[in-house]
Amino acid sequence: MKRVAILISGGGSNMVKLVESMTGDHPARACLVASNDPEAGGLKKAAEMGIATAAVDHRLFKGDREAFEAALREHIDASQPDILCLAGFMRILTPSFIEAYQGRMLNIHPSLLPKYKGLNTHQRALDAGDTEAGCTVHEVTPALDDGPILGQARVPIEAEDTAETLAARVLVQEHRLYPEALRRFAAGERSKFEL
Ligand code: GRF
Repeated sequence: MKRVAILISGGGSNMVKLVESMTGDHPARACLVASNDPEAGGLKKAAEMGIATAAVDHRLFKGDREAFEAALREHIDASQPDILCLAGFMRILTPSFIEAYQGRMLNIHPSLLPKYKGLNTHQRALDAGDTEAGCTVHEVTPALDDGPILGQARVPIEAEDTAETLAARVLVQEHRLYPEALRRFAAGERSKFEL
């Protein structure tokens, strides 16, 4: 059975879907939910689901990324995860942190990568006049939002869409895509898929 640590920064809706999916014949179980914000709503949800939680407030480190990451790694390594899932984790990680978990760290991004790396993905798709948007689960590498793609889901853009309405429909697909991508990854399946 693979052990999965999940990193969040906010409400944790993707984290909840991941934890809920890891039951029955799923090849993995959650072992930790950690956040860079002690007030992250997702920590309470994880605790209510019986998952160990940890918080390391990045603000206390006054921009010293290495020191923040060292403190975060103590909690992560103590939980002995086989896989790390970034789920709405909004801190940019240093190459040394990423190299420590390379090949076993996943991220969900709200665009059809390689399009729209970074932030404000939905507004950028609307501004470009795109006809579809979507989300991507990829392996994390030192280059931001650039690692090998594991899975994608497409969402048609409607004429009256705003960034908010589009984000809401993409999030529904994120909640389907990430659990499927994790199940395949934990089972050793690396071929790219589309929902
Ligand atoms: C999701 O849209 C995710 O793609 C992005 O941040 C949002 C987090 O949502 N990186 P939640 O915290 O999982 O609800």
